[in-house]
Amino acid sequence: MAGPIPREFIDDLLDRADITQIIGERVKLKRAGREYKGLCPFHNEKTPSFTVNPTKDFYHCFGCGAHGSVLGFMMQHDRLDFPAAVEALAERYGLEVPRRGPSRPSGKGLYDLLNGAARHYIEQLKGSDPAKDYLKSRGLTGKVAQAFGIGYAPRGNGILARFGQSEDQRRSLVDAGLALKGESGELYDRFRDRIMFPIRDRRGRVTGFGGRAMGDVQPKYMNSPETPVFHKGRELYGLHELGRRKVDRCVLVEGYMDVIGLAQNDVAGAMASLGTAVTPQQLTRLFRIAPSVVFCFDGDPAGRRAAERAMERALPEMRGGRQLSFAFLPEGEDPDSYVRSEGAASFNKVLDSATPMSEFLMQTLSAQCDLATAEGRARMAELARPLLGATPVGVYRDLLMNRLAEEVQLPRERLGQLLETSQRRRDVARQPASRPLRRDPWGNLAESLAGLLVIFPELAADLDPLPELKYLKEPRIGLLSELFETVRATPGISPVKLVERYREKPEHGLVSQLLARGTELSARQARLEFEEGVVRMRKENSIREMAARTPG
Ligand code: UTP
Ligand code: MN
Repeated sequence: MAGPIPREFIDDLLDRADITQIIGERVKLKRAGREYKGLCPFHNEKTPSFTVNPTKDFYHCFGCGAHGSVLGFMMQHDRLDFPAAVEALAERYGLEVPRRGPSRPSGKGLYDLLNGAARHYIEQLKGSDPAKDYLKSRGLTGKVAQAFGIGYAPRGNGILARFGQSEDQRRSLVDAGLALKGESGELYDRFRDRIMFPIRDRRGRVTGFGGRAMGDVQPKYMNSPETPVFHKGRELYGLHELGRRKVDRCVLVEGYMDVIGLAQNDVAGAMASLGTAVTPQQLTRLFRIAPSVVFCFDGDPAGRRAAERAMERALPEMRGGRQLSFAFLPEGEDPDSYVRSEGAASFNKVLDSATPMSEFLMQTLSAQCDLATAEGRARMAELARPLLGATPVGVYRDLLMNRLAEEVQLPRERLGQLLETSQRRRDVARQPASRPLRRDPWGNLAESLAGLLVIFPELAADLDPLPELKYLKEPRIGLLSELFETVRATPGISPVKLVERYREKPEHGLVSQLLARGTELSARQARLEFEEGVVRMRKENSIREMAARTPG
């Protein structure tokens, strides 16, 4: 695979790129004072709430919360991953993207091999009546089979025979997951006598396969292993096939056949994670396509459990106007069987009446407590705590807090305090401090300070180093300390560049949120606030340490 893109190049690219120009090529913008305004391309609106700020090199939609740099815009708008957005922007300005480290070694070869194999399987399908009959018996039309590149892997070692002439080629077949080594070292085809579903990345390159047995053979599906080009947690089956079609919502289903069945019946926007629980990367991709995502599960207990697991995965990703809901099909049906027997209109009704995640969360929690008793309600608050704690600070968490307050019949402020105390009781043995150290019960000091740094990087330029930051015990302290060091080491770095440095790190979402959230403070006030905050954090930490050492 290609080496990483040097950071200096990205900084340079951001300097050259004119955000108003790039966005203006895709969205009609009008000048409004120092900013530009237009209709947001990421949600439906009639009055413009989408703004581009050329001085900050930043865009922000006050309607749906979308925000970011010009690169972020291209990722979201053109549905590109980060390296592809950098490539596209560089090309726009006539620059070549330099690559560090190992430069594209085996990747390209593997893609060629996988694409060749996909063509081979399609040819083989043409010659196999049993395979064609199986697909017909499942109701597939030739058109949809073609759109999804469905093929057939016959018995025997056809792939090895065709693509494995040299020792090198055979090694590549193993690397690509197409061949396996047997016990005595002999090679054989991984997929034999199976219907083949190629899994394609966003750019349409085949990265792996799923192979379904036609009879009652175990396992029912064989999948490609993780390879240098195939990462299950990153791909979505059906993403490429959706193409550039605009959809109001995405539907996450469980199986290959579900995606295909829905596509054939004109329910657009269905995609499947590949046999595993949904990952943050997959969620990000789904929300990039539409602000509303419906998870569709079977109506049995296994489906409900899968939904709960998915909810836990999704909570930390709920920010910036993202909407997630859960649809359950009647017992014994999956999306494929349901849409074939009931039709698209019925299926869409099921999606329309999906349960919003906030509601599903309350249902899940209340099912484990007796809300008629005070103890039961307290238990519900306790069960909710880690889940709420994992949800990013913002509108969505506020909404959950309000819903929870209703359920447990407490005023919202009181609930906030309660959750806060039980949190503190855990990390502080005793709390001698009289004044509350945090203002917002769910806010986090290190996070607020990190926000100030992101918005006003220059405030740290002439501050003394703070090596002790690392040693304080505070959520998000690692991020704060890292930001502080970066900002001091890179005088003059702009907020947007700072955020871009986090692009491929897990904290990117948070850092970008911090910038979008903004502050009402002036640069001077921000600096005072920052210094005061650091002092307060040190103090709080030493109090905690003392408390921990004091028996009692
Ligand atoms: P299902 O068992 O629901 O299969 O598995 P399906 O997609 O409805 O397929 P049909 O209708 O029986 O042909 C859902 C998904 O779980 C993964 C596959 O990705 C499958 O599409 N799976 C299932 C496996 O990886 N291996 C298996 O043995 C079974
Ligand atoms: Mn099925």
